[in-house]
Parts: sequence; C-alpha cells; structure tokens
Amino acid sequence: MTTAHYDAIAEWYDEFVRTQPILYDVINPALLRMVDETGDLRDRDLCDLACGQGAIARQLAQRGARVVGVDISERLLAIAKLQADSGDVLYPITYRYDDAQAATTLGDASFDGVTCNMALMDIPDLDAAMRTVARILRPGGWFVCSITHPYVQMPASQWTARADGSTTRTAGDYFAEGFWHPGKTPGVRGRVGAHHRTLATYLNTFVRAGLVLEAVAEPQATDALIAQLPGYQWVPGAFIARCRKRS
Ligand SMILES: C[S@@+](CC[C@H](N)C(=O)[O-])C[C@H]1O[C@@H](n2cnc3c(N)ncnc32)[C@H](O)[C@@H]1O
Repeated sequence: MTTAHYDAIAEWYDEFVRTQPILYDVINPALLRMVDETGDLRDRDLCDLACGQGAIARQLAQRGARVVGVDISERLLAIAKLQADSGDVLYPITYRYDDAQAATTLGDASFDGVTCNMALMDIPDLDAAMRTVARILRPGGWFVCSITHPYVQMPASQWTARADGSTTRTAGDYFAEGFWHPGKTPGVRGRVGAHHRTLATYLNTFVRAGLVLEAVAEPQATDALIAQLPGYQWVPGAFIARCRKRS
C-alpha cells in the first residue's frame, strides 16, 4: 500500500479545495462536463478513484448515480463521509479505504464509469492503476480523469516575469520522468510532490490498459483564477481525458 501522504495535510487540503478557483471554477467543472457528455447518470454505478474529500463523488451522486469513493487517506475519507452525511442532502455514496493500484475491494466489471480527479500524479504505478480502471469497468464503460498539465507542472518549471511585467510559466525538464518535489511552494505539489510523466506516457498507458481515447480538454482559466494566480491566462491548468473500455 502506498504511503498516505494526504493524511498529514487532510484538513489543509479540504480547505484548499474550497478556496481554489483552479479546482472549483476550472478543473472540476471541466471534468464534470466530460462526464455529463456520456449521458444520463441516474442509476449508474460510478467509482470516484482517489476521491479525497469527495467533491467529485458528491457531484456524481447529485446527478443520481450510485457512487463508490475510494482513497488511501483515512483522514480525507473521514472528511468525505462527514460532508456526505451532513446537510440537507443525503448522498448515495459508499466510501472505501483502498489502493487504486490493486483495489482488491472493487469487483471486476462493476462500474459504468470511473472518475479520477487530479490524482494520477500521486500514484507511483500508473500501469497498475490503469489496470484497475480497465478491470472494474463494464464493457463500454468510460473513464474520465484530470491531471496537472505535464507541460506546465514539471521538474524545474517555474513562474517567471514576461517583458510586459505579467507572469507566465516556463517549461523545465519535461522528459525527466519520475518523482519530483517543487520545494516549498504554495499549493498541493509543494506539500506532497508528484510523479511526473509526459503526456505521451499517460496516453500510452491508458491505451496499454485496453482503453480507447475518446476526448481530451485543456480548460482555460476563468477571471477568478487569473485574479488569484496571475499567469494561468497563458497556460492550461490541467489536462483532461475521457477513454472508453471496448464493448
Ligand atoms: C490531489 S488529491 C485529489 C483528491 C480528489 N480526487 C479531489 O478531486 O479533490 C489526490 C488524492 O489521491 C489519493 N491517493 C494517492 N495515492 C492513492 C492510491 N494509491 N490509491 C488511492 N488513492 C490515492 C490521495 O490520498 C488524495 O486523496
């Protein structure tokens, strides 16, 4: 089982998710648009892999799906359960402690769709995680994921000043795949680091797992994001993909 780095920052992460336009205004809506394009979610069995504090799992449940949220952070799962069980809405979500790289608690061909929002960079063995996705999907089922854009967040990349005084992101060592830590920078990666992979590695791994690529997106920043993090008007905040298991 992979170390649960997020247990150490669970409360901070829960607060972070709520205060970051890059997530609630840009990435999460873009991922959900890809999901919504698959059709009506009512009575669908969906898995939110590496669900964290459950922001996406709740959105799927609100659309009428039966949702299983899976994560290796017990503290984030506890926060997710609390949020699903409090308030006016009761969400049909089951939360499970499991490792996406094996997911032994999840049965073969048991889901119509799987989401994985901003988490594949946290998982060391991408092939194993994608084998899980392919195994737990029913034939014809879809997989929608978002990742930090590997040409924006990569070893030695940094925010730099342009000649006109604005900020932009400059590329670093794109081909240096492996674990990297940007050092003491604000945000998630400054706390837990990331497994950097090229876009080609991601897409080839999806294909190797037996999935067919269906659609991709590079969502653009909103005014709220640019106001909070100047520079995102020039670069994509994430890469989003939808794949499908053959029928
Ligand atoms: C950046 S957070 C994203 C959480 C959530 N999907 C969201 O949209 O906020 C990454 C999540 O991946 C989880 N994670 C990391 N490695 C995992 C693994 N091997 N299996 C399951 N979850 C894992 C972490 O515990 C954390 O909750």
